[in-house]
Amino acid sequence: MQVTIALAKGRLEEESVKVLERCGLDCSGILGDSRKLIFFDKKNDVRFILVKPVDVPTYVDHGVADMGITGKDTLLEAGLPLYEMADMKFGRCRLVVAGYPERAAGSLTSSVLRVATKYPAIAKRHFESKGESVECITLSGSVELAPLLGLSDVILDIVESGRTLKENGLVVTEEVCDISARLAVNRASLKIKSKRLKPLIEKIRLAVEERC
Ligand code: PRP
Repeated sequence: MQVTIALAKGRLEEESVKVLERCGLDCSGILGDSRKLIFFDKKNDVRFILVKPVDVPTYVDHGVADMGITGKDTLLEAGLPLYEMADMKFGRCRLVVAGYPERAAGSLTSSVLRVATKYPAIAKRHFESKGESVECITLSGSVELAPLLGLSDVILDIVESGRTLKENGLVVTEEVCDISARLAVNRASLKIKSKRLKPLIEKIRLAVEERC
C-alpha cells in the first residue's frame, strides 16, 4: 500500500527532507531545481507531494496525503481533525502579538482593536479567550506593514529572528505560543495503513531525537 507524504515547500522543506532521509527514504530530486511537484521513492513505495505549507492540512485531511509536515501555526489555524504524531523540533519560532511600543490604550484606530494577521482563526480564539473583541484583517504576507500604514493597531504573526519586527519599528506586546514543525497524520490512514504508517512514524520520531 503506497504512502503519500505532503511536504511544505519553502522554509521547512530542507529539514523535512533531511529527517525523512535519515529514516531511509529516498528523497532525491526534491531539493533540486526541478519544478516537479510529485516525487517517488519506488523502493519504499512512498510518494512525496510538494505543496504550500498552508495547504498541507487540507491534503492530509482529505486523505490525498496520508501524512504531512508543516508548522504548528498552520495546523492551529486550519483546526482540522488530524492526528499530530510528532514534534519535528525544527522550524522553531513564536506566535506573538506585536505593535508600536508607544501605542497607548486610548489610541486605537477605531473602537475595537484591529488585528492584521495571516491567522484569523487563531487571532479570534486568542483575543476571545481574554474576553476582548477584535476586528481581524486577514492578509497573506508582509503583515508588519499594516500597523505602519494605519490598517491595524497590532499584528498577530510569527517571529523567528525578530528582524522583520525590529526593522519596521515594532515590538512584541504579547506571546501567544511557541511553534515548530509537526507531523500530521490522516485519521483514517492511520487505521487502514497502520502496518506501514506506525513503523514510519516511529522512525521519524527516532530520527528527530537523534538529530537533537
Ligand atoms: C514570516 C513572518 C514575518 C517574518 C518573521 O514571513 O510572517 O513576517 O517571517 O521572521 P523574522 O522574525 O526572522 O524576521 P515570511 O518570511 O514567511 O513572509 P511573508 O511576509 O510573505 O508571509
